[in-house]
Amino acid sequence: GDPGLPSSAMYPLEMEGNSNPKTTNKPKYSKFTQQELPACKPLLTPEIVIAAFALIGALFVPIGLASLHASRQVVELVHRYDASCVPVDDKVGFIQNSRTDKTCTVTMTVPKYMKSPIHVYYLIDGFYQNHRRYVRSRSDKQLRYKSAAHLTSDCVPEGDTADHAPIVPCGLVAWSLFNDTYTVRVNGVVTQVNKKDIAWKSDKNNKFGKNIYPSNFQKGRLIGGATLNESIPLSEQEDLIVWMRTAALPTFRKLYGRIEKDINANDNVTVVIQNNYNTYSFGGSKALVLSTASWIGGKNNFIGIAYLTIGGLCLSLAMGFLVLYMVKRRNFGDPSNLSWNR
Ligand SMILES: *[C@@H]1O[C@H](CO)[C@@H](O)[C@H](O)[C@H]1NC(C)=O
Repeated sequence: GDPGLPSSAMYPLEMEGNSNPKTTNKPKYSKFTQQELPACKPLLTPEIVIAAFALIGALFVPIGLASLHASRQVVELVHRYDASCVPVDDKVGFIQNSRTDKTCTVTMTVPKYMKSPIHVYYLIDGFYQNHRRYVRSRSDKQLRYKSAAHLTSDCVPEGDTADHAPIVPCGLVAWSLFNDTYTVRVNGVVTQVNKKDIAWKSDKNNKFGKNIYPSNFQKGRLIGGATLNESIPLSEQEDLIVWMRTAALPTFRKLYGRIEKDINANDNVTVVIQNNYNTYSFGGSKALVLSTASWIGGKNNFIGIAYLTIGGLCLSLAMGFLVLYMVKRRNFGDPSNLSWNR
């Protein structure tokens, strides 16, 4: 507008009272409609930016170093056994024949002292537990409630037996339950692998019923994996509970049990494997993992490296800005530095 004119000249309608209906429809004055709400507009001065980067760097670098150190402390042994535990020719025929002897012995030497509890995992590669039709092939209601035993429609083809009795637990996830077993000896002495409390407590208490027992399970023509003891309720079938928490990636490890005894450096660990599970027909592989744990869990350098990268980046940005700030300093709000001929 023209600052020379009084406001009454700019808005003549307002001065005429409410004869014009347009003026009466004007919304009531409020800070919101007039966009006068208080707002925060932080001023990013060089000091603040440099301090912020330096602070993030100073926080992240120690966290990264601590995580990396903890991960390095973890002792982990991985032994792949799927190739060495079957004859070279006709692997699938060997594994599918119920009369062949699947016993297989592997020996490992422990490189460093391992503090208990030592976690025993099986590692499977190339098994897509995340496949859409596999993941859905289960009945969570049936696992939880006794009255829902007949709810097997999601489980086809592992829903009902040939004579229409419901399979409990139904579906491909349960059907394909892992069935290799391990017996561990340390320096020739049999060492217990404790299989209690390997599943999540919340799964045991809330997802698998205490009064539901397996029935008609693994009785079909094609055996997918392990059988279940029909006198143990589902909430105590921890191998099943672990298996049914499906993995998100095709390479996964699942907890098999824990060794609750320390193992010393240079001890010989002998594991007698019943190599039952058929990963051969789909080109997968299997491995046995023994691992100690630290406060960040198992061996994984990723967190530490990620923290160190971000922290290092922030510190170098802070340094760079500090140098620039000291070399090419200009006063706040001084526009003269913007001109070409300063
Ligand atoms: C183990 O699972 C395989 C399928 O992966 C099956 O062919 C075999 O019969 C099962 N063996 C035992 C002992 O459960």
